[in-house]
Formats: sequence, C-alpha cells, structure tokens
Amino acid sequence: MSEHRKIAVIGAGHVGSHCAQALCWRWCAQEIVLIDKEKEKAIAQAMDIADSLSFPAADITVRAGDYADCADADLIFVAIGKARLPGQTRLDLLGDSVKMAKELIGQLSPYSLRGIVVSITNPADIIADYLRKGLHLPRNQVFSTGTLLDTARLIRTIAEKTGMSRQAVTAFSLGEHGDSSMIPFSAIRIGGLPLESYPMVNRAELLERTHGIGMDIINGKGSTEFGIGQSAAFLADAILRDRKAVLPVSVQLCGEYGQKDVSCGVPCVIGKSGVEKIIELPLTPDEQEQLQASCDVIRKHIALAEQIAPLD
Ligand SMILES: NC(=O)c1ccc[n+]([C@@H]2O[C@H](COP(=O)([O-])OP(=O)(O)OC[C@H]3O[C@@H](n4cnc5c(N)ncnc54)[C@H](O)[C@@H]3O)[C@@H](O)[C@H]2O)c1
Repeated sequence: MSEHRKIAVIGAGHVGSHCAQALCWRWCAQEIVLIDKEKEKAIAQAMDIADSLSFPAADITVRAGDYADCADADLIFVAIGKARLPGQTRLDLLGDSVKMAKELIGQLSPYSLRGIVVSITNPADIIADYLRKGLHLPRNQVFSTGTLLDTARLIRTIAEKTGMSRQAVTAFSLGEHGDSSMIPFSAIRIGGLPLESYPMVNRAELLERTHGIGMDIINGKGSTEFGIGQSAAFLADAILRDRKAVLPVSVQLCGEYGQKDVSCGVPCVIGKSGVEKIIELPLTPDEQEQLQASCDVIRKHIALAEQIAPLD
C-alpha cells in the first residue's frame, strides 16, 4: 500500500486494544491512534502494542492521540463503553452507552469526519443508529459491526459440527447483535450444499450457540475481545483495500427487507465507501417474521435511546 492510511480507535479498553493489535497484523494502515478518556491507559496500550511490532518487524506507528486525530483518519472505530457483567444482556448497557455516545458526539463535533465510522459499542445496532444521527453522516459512512461477530461464531459452530473448513461455510446471522438475532438457515451453504445435506447439524443448537457464546466468555474472563478484534480488522481490511467483501454489518435500512427506521445486521458489500450495497437474501416467510421481530426490538430501544439522551 503506497498511500498513508490512518485508523483511530476510540476507547482503549479490552475491545479497542485488541482491535488495534489485530489491525496491525492485517497491515491495512501505517498509523493507528488510540484515544481514551483515560489518557494514561491509551498511552500504555499503545506502548504495549508498539512493543509487539519488532518480531516480526512491522513499520506501523501505534500511538495515543486525541479526538482531533479523527479529522483526517480514514477509518474510526468506536469501542467506548463497559463490558457486560455476567447475566446482563447487551440491551441492558443502553443507558450507560447512549450517555457515553452523546458525550463522544460532542467531542467529535468540532471536526468534519471524512473517514468511515464503525461502531462496536453495545447495544451495537442502537448506538450506531444514534451516532449516525448525532454525527449527521450518511448510512454508508456510519454503521456497526452488528452481527459480524455473531456470524463468526455461527461459522465456527457449523465448521465444528460438520468437520468442514470454516472457509467452506457461507452463513449469516441477521438482525440485532444480541439475543433476538436470527439465522436464515435457508441461505446457509456448506461446500456449496444446503444445510439439509448435513443431518448432524441441529438448527436450535446453532441458534443457541450463536446467542450464548458471548456470555460464556464473559462468565469465564469478564470481557470478549479476540473475536471482535479480528472481525473488526477483517472489516477494516475490506474497507481500506476496497475489497467489495460481503459481510454482515448493522446499517440503517430504508425499505430493504421491508424495514425502515431501524439499523440492523444484514449482509452488505463493503468497500472504500463503507457500506456500498445491501444484499437482500430471499428469506422464507418464517425467517422474514423472525427478522421483523428482531427489528421491532431494536426500534423500541432506538426510541428509548432518544428519550435517555435526546440529540441536540
Ligand atoms: N459489537 C460487538 O461485537 C462487541 C464485542 C465485544 C464488546 N463490545 C462492546 O464494546 C464496548 C467496550 O467494551 P470493553 O470490554 O472494551 O470495555 P472497557 O471498559 O474495557 O473499555 C472501554 C473504554 O472506553 C473508554 N471511554 C468511555 N467513553 C469514552 C469517550 N467518550 N472517549 C474515549 N474513551 C472513552 C473508557 O475509558 C474505557 O477505557 C462495550 O460496549 C462492549 O459491550 C461489542
């Protein structure tokens, strides 16, 4: 890559730091800037990650910075927030997260952002929707990782159950990044064949694992970080290298899948403009109903976010 690429990561906690580390090893930017309210934490995380880049050698600058660094960043990740506690749903984080998102909108308001903004903060669909409105940017430019991590977990489970390579699996989790997410089983292909060709795969178990793995990790170690770090870095690579990759992210829907006034996880073509196209999978009537139910959950919480922290 000849031109200089810069990524800002706002929030240098578990998620932000793991994203930054994974971004280094995808080599998709020459400069990675960590920004945190706790400046000392951002400095320490940046130093620790920078130490990891000598063996093997990677000529990437990793440093702590400030909100002004977002003005000329090609890509901005938002990883502020708090990790879930055992027993908490992502929706339970809404009150704290939306107040932090409002504060962040104020911190970014002096700058005109030209880069793509990818939000990770939970509840992911609602916070991305709130940030897009608060930053007054178009839907292709502000979106969330949404069900990308759920999809990573789904692909992992299918590969483990079938003994096939993850690379042979095409599958998506759609809807909320949370407990109402759904799986369009009709669209799953494993080595080109539909799910019916793999009787060892139980649909209820796929859904249960996709919903449950995150909390299993939280129960064991208090935060999830590696899975989202790699997922975010893969997404960054698709954006910065204009790959036209098809990945599920949470983007505002304007009639696609029969939905509007909602942001939710759907497969999208990802390239240098961010979300370049939404792919509409042909869902069965049952699947369409499940997606509708998930969108209703998100819509209800979008309205709640606007009550908790009204946008100016
Ligand atoms: N979307 C996903 O797939 C996914 C996966 C894992 C975690 N998450 C979410 O990511 C978020 C972060 O989780 P974590 O475990 O890293 O939490 P954490 O507490 O370790 O880190 C959050 C950091 O954000 C900082 N922060 C808060 N407001 C800020 C602001 N305005 N500017 C700069 N920094 C700010 C805090 O100081 C803290 O260092 C949570 O909402 C969590 O639920 C999402």
